Amino acid sequence: MSRAAADAPNAASERRLIFPDLETLSAYAAQQWVARAQDATAQRGRFLAALAGGETPQRLYTWLIEPRFRDQIPWAHTYLFWGDERSAPPESPGSNYGAAWRGWLAQAPIPAGQIWPIRGELSAEAAAQDYAATLRQFADPGLAWPVFDLVLLGMGTDGHTASLFPGLALSADTPPTLAVTAHYGDRPAQRVTLTPPVFNSAREVWVLVAGANKAQTLAQVWSEEPPQPDRWPIQRIRPNAGRLVWLVDNAAAGLVG
Ligand code: 6PG
Repeated sequence: MSRAAADAPNAASERRLIFPDLETLSAYAAQQWVARAQDATAQRGRFLAALAGGETPQRLYTWLIEPRFRDQIPWAHTYLFWGDERSAPPESPGSNYGAAWRGWLAQAPIPAGQIWPIRGELSAEAAAQDYAATLRQFADPGLAWPVFDLVLLGMGTDGHTASLFPGLALSADTPPTLAVTAHYGDRPAQRVTLTPPVFNSAREVWVLVAGANKAQTLAQVWSEEPPQPDRWPIQRIRPNAGRLVWLVDNAAAGLVG
């Protein structure tokens, strides 16, 4: 499978991969998902991934149930979580879990007990607490959450990621899950998000960005020094010991210098 047109390592722990289009980006991501899942299972007996909502990862998700990828994935050892969720029941079009279920998980050979949605049918506060308890069940030593093998994220045109929006105040002792209840732009006000300490402890974080409408933001997020994480929440994603991989299509990379 052909890979990036450009592969410009920014630092040992950050890679910026640029693909001709979302289709090739997604196929590459599916191939890498297989590799990450197989490695994690071989090394630790399980593969824990946190999924993103939004449009960009949907093609990756459908690739994962194509036989060429599906048949190589260790589904029996795969555990799926979500990085954020709207306060919406699974049958709602706004539900990240519901979209993933309908689009691919219903056809994936994963044991039902290994899919861990954020409970959008609860209030945001209750769902945040409930999911904090879920994360504790899988916690690594010294943490209240698991070290994810893979975290998928997207980036909004305003630089948000998961449900970490511009201007969101985060304290030094930010809990692993947050209820996001302030109105922000046209976004539904009731959401739950995992927080930077959780994302940044992952072994690998992928940020999937596609489309010309992201180009201006991406150029600023990648170039502005010093970082302004209050303005561009995606800049809060800096894995402590893991790797940050940007998977970007040509259209989104169009204004990168
Ligand atoms: C969501 C995610 C959100 C998303 C970005 C990018 O649930 O929608 O929380 O952070 O990843 O808004 O979305 P697109 O991939 O649709 O551009």
